[in-house]
Amino acid sequence: MDPQPPGRAGPKDSQSGERSQTHGGEAPQRSLAQVANVICVGSGKGGVGKSTLTANLAAALAVEGKRVGVLDADVWGYSIPRMYGLGATRPMVSSERKIVPLDAHGIKVMSIGFFVEEDAAVVWRGPMLHKALTQFLKDVEWGHLDYLLIDLPPGTGDVSMTLAQLLPQAQFLIITTPQPTAQRVARRAAEMAGKVDLEVVGVIENMAGFVTPGGERFQIFGEGGGQELADELDVPMLGKVPLTMPLRLQADAGLPLVFEDPDDPAAQAIRQAARGLIAMAPIVLPTLAVGGSAASPTGPSPSTGLSLPMA
Ligand SMILES: Nc1ncnc2c1ncn2[C@@H]1O[C@H](COP(=O)(O)OP(=O)(O)O)[C@@H](O)[C@H]1O
Ligand SMILES: [Mg+2]
Repeated sequence: MDPQPPGRAGPKDSQSGERSQTHGGEAPQRSLAQVANVICVGSGKGGVGKSTLTANLAAALAVEGKRVGVLDADVWGYSIPRMYGLGATRPMVSSERKIVPLDAHGIKVMSIGFFVEEDAAVVWRGPMLHKALTQFLKDVEWGHLDYLLIDLPPGTGDVSMTLAQLLPQAQFLIITTPQPTAQRVARRAAEMAGKVDLEVVGVIENMAGFVTPGGERFQIFGEGGGQELADELDVPMLGKVPLTMPLRLQADAGLPLVFEDPDDPAAQAIRQAARGLIAMAPIVLPTLAVGGSAASPTGPSPSTGLSLPMA
């Protein structure tokens, strides 16, 4: 029942498990040559709504006409499949031996959750984790995307470091709740992003108040932490997403609220954040191609063999 470790990490096998000072990851570069923007969605801690916002932000970008993918890199606490209503389906493998992402309302989705039994614990660490993430970038047929959103696990551990190494061109979007303690933890995530040279693209404050049906407002998690953090980091504050019951219900039901009820206050705030992201990141393809890999962005990558636990 334990997931098999991916057997091959591709040409950079020798550096798995250790930090590369050179920002390696040539193969993902090529596979992502048609992806214009990679945005890692991170937070200092769990439970701040990172996955919920990732799923809905992707939906909001899709509503704006963008081609969007979501990579669930929270290998231990994956929740993206559930939020998109993608349960037991296993991805197909294309004739080029690439894993075909699942489609959720036009969004391309990949998650370790598609390869393990439901609710199975994933115990990957270090080199195995590095290999799995490399495969998700390198062996997945992401194709032409305006945005690839990556839902990071909480904290500043292995996954973030590995992705930073594989995707030096990625940006980092910070989710925080409004209270000072959360903001302090989120700041650590920002510091980590700085250390690995990922540009922080902005802050979204989640759980920013609750409004009763009668219109009374409660700042359940405090106030202003997101703006403070954004000011401190000198990055845009992209949105304040209130607590609303439909956002939680829809996440549980597998259909992003942005699709289901775009006028819900939380959905509106997320749509505004998506428009903010679009406004600040003009799409110029292919921005991710590096060196020689720019030459044939549409050509298939060399076959590398798939060894995620899909057999
Ligand atoms: N703005 C919000 N309003 C209501 N519920 C929310 C909101 N943001 C997140 N939630 C709920 O909080 C819980 C944790 O969110 P989740 O996205 O899983 O957090 P994380 O990925 O940061 O661990 C989920 O049940 C989610 O539906
Ligand atoms: Mg999550």
